[in-house]
Amino acid sequence: MKWIKTQNYGEMSRLVAQLFIKQLKDNRNTVLGFATGSTPIGLYEELVKNYNENIISFSGALSFNLDEYIGLARSNEFSYYYYMYKHLFSHIDMKESNIHIPSGDLSFIERSSAAYKQLIEVAGGIDILLLGIGINGHIGFNEPGTCFNSNTHVVELETSTRKANKIHFDNQENVPTHAITMGIASILKAKKIVLLVSGQSKQAAIDFLRTGEVTEQFPASALHLHEDVTIIYTDVK
Ligand code: F6R
Repeated sequence: MKWIKTQNYGEMSRLVAQLFIKQLKDNRNTVLGFATGSTPIGLYEELVKNYNENIISFSGALSFNLDEYIGLARSNEFSYYYYMYKHLFSHIDMKESNIHIPSGDLSFIERSSAAYKQLIEVAGGIDILLLGIGINGHIGFNEPGTCFNSNTHVVELETSTRKANKIHFDNQENVPTHAITMGIASILKAKKIVLLVSGQSKQAAIDFLRTGEVTEQFPASALHLHEDVTIIYTDVK
């Protein structure tokens, strides 16, 4: 596990962008894994900037997102589908058919969970996967207690997660209670993982991760089982 401390959020975003840019330059058909939330917004701004300056193209790339809320339509401004188009996909040349975001549509959730795992396998696996971390140590929406053997599955969100995510919603009542997420086993299959951490609220999570203890009660600790993880962090938001 490689730890890189940056001076601020801007430096963190530029640094992780360089890893994605290198990946795209090394292999134009690369498979990228994306996260949502507050932390990666600066990365997406950097990627759009580099695309606009003709430094990178996503025309041959595929992408898989980590998670989605259950019960929010794609057109809902709080869905992760909406978020990804707003911050990235509407501004770059990735083919729509190459973009994969788990569907939060309850009517075919069982089928889509199994299909998501298969889609990733057919694509040859994820070359570089971006992660953020919850204050309770979740990665994707794998909450404490999630089995490390899990593939894409439905989870009930913890109160602390719904509370943390209410900043993106009108109020906490509107934060969905459930989500669909890539599981820990699927995450660990990515060839390279980059975890971004920003802000004081994540300090305790970082401190736990540094202890090296591996426990299902702290999902991010599964990253100790992977051989190519880079953590880029800043305590300044
Ligand atoms: C979102 C995701 C979550 C977030 C985590 C941190 O796709 O996978 O694990 O990365 O909740 O969210 P922020 O960045 O908003 O603090």
